[in-house]
Amino acid sequence: MLSKKMTDRINLQINREMYSAYLYLAMSARMGEAGYKGVANWLMIQYHEEMFHAMKLYGYLEDQGSAVALEAIAKPEFKETAIKELFQRVLEHEKGVSGSIREIAALAREEKDYATEAFIQWYLTEQVEEEKNASEILQTIDLMGNSAQGLYMLNIELGKRKLGVPSDFTSMGGED
Ligand code: FEO
Repeated sequence: MLSKKMTDRINLQINREMYSAYLYLAMSARMGEAGYKGVANWLMIQYHEEMFHAMKLYGYLEDQGSAVALEAIAKPEFKETAIKELFQRVLEHEKGVSGSIREIAALAREEKDYATEAFIQWYLTEQVEEEKNASEILQTIDLMGNSAQGLYMLNIELGKRKLGVPSDFTSMGGED
């Protein structure tokens, strides 16, 4: 059984992960409209990844017998439309998420909540990957000198990204 404080904090994280999903979905729509179908694909995959992050937390609350409490998801706000600036924003956003996950890890340790401390390790590792993905795309853009031809190639490359997480969440909680 989780403490009330931990339950609230995990519910907040569900909201933050769903906001992340919403942000990437909005970015995907904008990039698709601009003709960058590959970038839109990458962002749509990212949307699914964020929903998976949210639902994994949801399943954890269910497994712990703690109440899921869903709050309003804020309107996603971003003004970046150039590819480089957009991925800079993605990286900044992910750094913020990493900080949020570290807060949960710190709270778990403070409360001697060893189950949550173990559970949240997956997210700590995942955030390393999330930041690395955005950083590598930015590095590629810089190597190409931010050129139109380079962005065209990058768009093709990002269009190849495939979903690596489940998108059916019906069995994520209430495990035996
Ligand atoms: Fe769920 Fe991109 O962190």
